Amino acid sequence: MTDLLITDAKPYGEDAVDLLVRDGVVAEIGTGLSAPEGTEVLDAGGNVLLPGLVDLHVHLREPGGEESETIETGSHAAALGGFTAVFAMPNTDPVADTAVVVEHVRRRGEEVGLVDVHPVGAVTTGLKGEKLAELGTMAASAAQVRMFSDDGRCVHDPLIMRRALEYASALDVVIAQHAEDHRLTGGAQAHEGPIASRLGLAGWPATAEETIVARDCALAREAGAALHVCHVSSLHSIAVLRAAKAQGVRVSAEVTPHHLLLTDGRLTGYDPVNKVNPPLRTGADTQAMREALAEGVIDVVATDHAPHASQYKDTEWAAAKPGMLGLQTALSVVIHTMVEPGLLDWHGVARVMSERPAEIGNLADQGRPIAVGEPATFALVDPDAQWTVRGAALASKAANTPYEGMRLPGAAVATVLRGRVTARDGKVMA
Ligand code: DOR
Repeated sequence: MTDLLITDAKPYGEDAVDLLVRDGVVAEIGTGLSAPEGTEVLDAGGNVLLPGLVDLHVHLREPGGEESETIETGSHAAALGGFTAVFAMPNTDPVADTAVVVEHVRRRGEEVGLVDVHPVGAVTTGLKGEKLAELGTMAASAAQVRMFSDDGRCVHDPLIMRRALEYASALDVVIAQHAEDHRLTGGAQAHEGPIASRLGLAGWPATAEETIVARDCALAREAGAALHVCHVSSLHSIAVLRAAKAQGVRVSAEVTPHHLLLTDGRLTGYDPVNKVNPPLRTGADTQAMREALAEGVIDVVATDHAPHASQYKDTEWAAAKPGMLGLQTALSVVIHTMVEPGLLDWHGVARVMSERPAEIGNLADQGRPIAVGEPATFALVDPDAQWTVRGAALASKAANTPYEGMRLPGAAVATVLRGRVTARDGKVMA
């Protein structure tokens, strides 16, 4: 592997330094560093250097949904978005509920080689919520599964959830819950409130999330297990999380970029690009998400990157699938919603998009400090960039971005995975 010299980079936005990388590890940090001939040079141009971003929640659709995304196209989107590790949800076809499928996903990620792809195993067989999947076998497999989830569906039965958490405690893995009481939502896909009523759309009440979060915090406390709450969307869930954390429950939580920025006000045109589960909620909810993320009650930003081919989105509201692209816009949305208003500095961005996700996902070599002896795994961010989102220009196979035509601040200008430049200036490095 050739050495890499990164010049004029500002770790966490602080003073500019050079970094010399050898064998994928930071060997030297200083100013005016020189390197032997043949060393690859990445001129960082005074941009902000962060640890590589880690996303605990993506849908890469492979196997079975390749018309919407593949592990290859999703890896391209991840690298271009500044990500160096992603957790791929198991709602594929076949479902990732056996060692064979999770090993396939892991191996395919390694073959593409742009980003560490960590398969998430299903909690229940076929995501049916009836019978626990073989969590131990998946954890012990070559895929080394460390997170289990039925995402897209809630593990609804409290006894099954209790057993899953007990296994999680014994196996030292985390259960990521899609908190939705299906009996209360009835499959509705719009926030229950005045806008849904006016539009004649059935409502998904915020209580359907809050009640499952409360139940699961109690079950996690009893089991002594690690619970992770996916895509928190309601301000009422935050109070439950705060109380559980204060009691020492091992619970972590994520918010998506779209729940930081977008509200149900977007639903008035019935455009299914805005259909997502959990639904976009109110301005009070987005404001509460931002504050909870700054405070640490919500630990991380996770994209819930959910590509859908046009035949699943260019249809009427009721028939469309829920979900939005997120990998290439996440950093910009976080800059816009959290950095620009002064809620997070660059250390804070590193915390919520890299360090905490790596801790929750149990990744030893991601989310590490930028220091000598640490892996050279970075996202280089131009904080002054401005760009206009065009779904068709994104690397994903699908184009279902809710930010179409929006001007967003900040961009990942280079991504480095263990000393190898995986993306640079908007291009993936093959
Ligand atoms: O909007 C969503 N889309 N929410 C989920 O929980 C699942 C995801 C998907 O798989 O498309």
